[in-house]
Formats: sequence, C-alpha cells, structure tokens
Amino acid sequence: MKTLYAVFGDPVEHSLSPVMHNAAFAALGMDCEYHKFRVTKDDLKDAILGAKAMGFGGLNLTIPLKEKALRLVEPDPLAEAVGAVNTIEFRGNGLVGHNTDGIGAVNALKSAGIVIPHSIVLILGAGGAARAVAYQLASNGARITIANRTPERAAKLAANVSSVGRAVGTGLENLHRLVEQSHIIINTTSVGMHPDTDQTLVTGDMLQTAQVIFDLVYSPLQTRLLKEANKAGAITVDGIKMLVLQGVESFRIWTGIDPPVDIMERAVRDVLGKQ
Ligand code: ATR
Repeated sequence: MKTLYAVFGDPVEHSLSPVMHNAAFAALGMDCEYHKFRVTKDDLKDAILGAKAMGFGGLNLTIPLKEKALRLVEPDPLAEAVGAVNTIEFRGNGLVGHNTDGIGAVNALKSAGIVIPHSIVLILGAGGAARAVAYQLASNGARITIANRTPERAAKLAANVSSVGRAVGTGLENLHRLVEQSHIIINTTSVGMHPDTDQTLVTGDMLQTAQVIFDLVYSPLQTRLLKEANKAGAITVDGIKMLVLQGVESFRIWTGIDPPVDIMERAVRDVLGKQ
C-alpha cells in the first residue's frame, strides 16, 4: 500500500511541495505520494492526529500553522528556539516537530560555494522566515545584523538569537552602510514579491562584486533585487534553492534517504516557469 505524505496550510493551493516530493518519490521508485490539504488552525490538532492514525509517512506545515504546531508536538531544540515547526515526524508513538527552513537557507548558500563561519550577514526582515534563517546562520558561526522596518522586532529577534551566536538588531535607516559592511545580504521580507515586483530594499548601486545576495522571494523567480545584484556583478542565490533544500531535509527526516536534489529542483522550476 502507498505511504502518504502531506503539507497542511491555509492557503495551501500554491504549495510546490507536492511537485518536488512526488518527483523525488518517482525518481527513487518509492511507493509514496505527497498531497496538499487546506487545514485551519482550529483543525490542526485533529488533522495531525488523523494523519498519524491513517499511517501517513510524515507532514509539512506552512502558513499559518507552523507556530501553533509547537504546542501540539514535541519540538526538537531548533524548532523550539525558532518557535515554529515545518516538519512532523511520526516516530514510534510520538510526534516530533522539526524546523528545516533555516537548514534549507544555509545549504542553499553552501551549494553556491559560500563559506558561512565568520561571514558578516545582513538579514532584512524579522518575521518567521528571518527567525529560522538567523538561528541557523548564527549557530553556524556567522555574525548577523538583523535590519527591519520595525526596529523593535529586529532587536527582539537579535536578543533571542544571541543565545546561539552573534546577532544585533536595527532599523532600515542605515541600510547603505550596513549593506556595504556585509558579505552576505539576505532578503526575508515580502518586498519584491508578486504583484509588487518593482520593489526592492537594496539597489544595485549599493552592491559590490564579491557580495552574495540571497532573496527568499521566488515569485517572481528573478526578483528586482536579484536582477540588480546580477547587474552589479554580485553572486546571487534565489528562493527556490531554499525551498527545495528545506524539502530535502524533511525528506531525509521522514525516510532516512538522501533524495535527488537536482530532480526536485527541476520539477519546481518547471512548474514556476510555466506560470
Ligand atoms: P514571514 O513569516 O514570511 O517572515 P512576516 O512574519 O509577516 O512573514 O514578516 C514579514 C517581514 O517583512 C517583516 O520583517 C516585515 O517588517 P515589519 O516587521 O516592520 O512588519 C517585512 N516587510 C513587509 N513589508 C515590508 C515593506 N514594505 N518594507 C519593509 N519591510 C517589510
């Protein structure tokens, strides 16, 4: 009998997780299928327990369920620190919560040949995505500045992240100087996302060739930030890399198998290319 996997979210119809995981299952010849289900916060507990009862192989969670899940499963230390669960493992009788978003981001940078320890990283934004990325990078030895429109949120996140590494928080007013001083600049805000594709917090004139620009936004694939960075000769990493590599990590947790990253990435890029 097929083993089922799923992502729960609300909304969830645009999730690319089924495409990439089903591509991996097919390539590996595994008798498994991955589906998406619209689940509200109120129904999350029932949905998780229902999936467990029906023998699902594992779950992903997306907006707005990641934070609520923390109280419904046993989070591992990283998910607990980040305050969000994106992967549920059915281990024996238990429900273990993981967060693979930050690992996805770090592995996206590593796959582009970027060295994290001792790097000076500027994170734009202080929301859920920034939390996962900041924790993982700080634990990997990066020196982090979190710059956010609401400086209080940046300061709070930096104070939390300081338990695992070096982080300071600030507003966006000194962005020119902060960008100039950084090796790696990561946009975790929604600025530049469809339909406001002409927006960017950082422009090409602020960048130098040796810098790395990583945009978590992948709709559109080539954001204005990435276009400007390319023109300035900087190294660019797009949001698809992180999306795929967080999925790769979830796949490993559920199955113990290293999935074919290239096949998963191609499947996602094909779908996005057709949109
Ligand atoms: P996510 O969980 O995807 O990170 P979020 O928690 O809503 O989403 O966070 C969105 C981030 O984008 C926040 O850091 C937000 O800044 P505020 O904390 O000041 O709200 C940032 N953001 C959204 N729109 C922005 C804009 N137009 N300019 C600057 N920052 C913006």
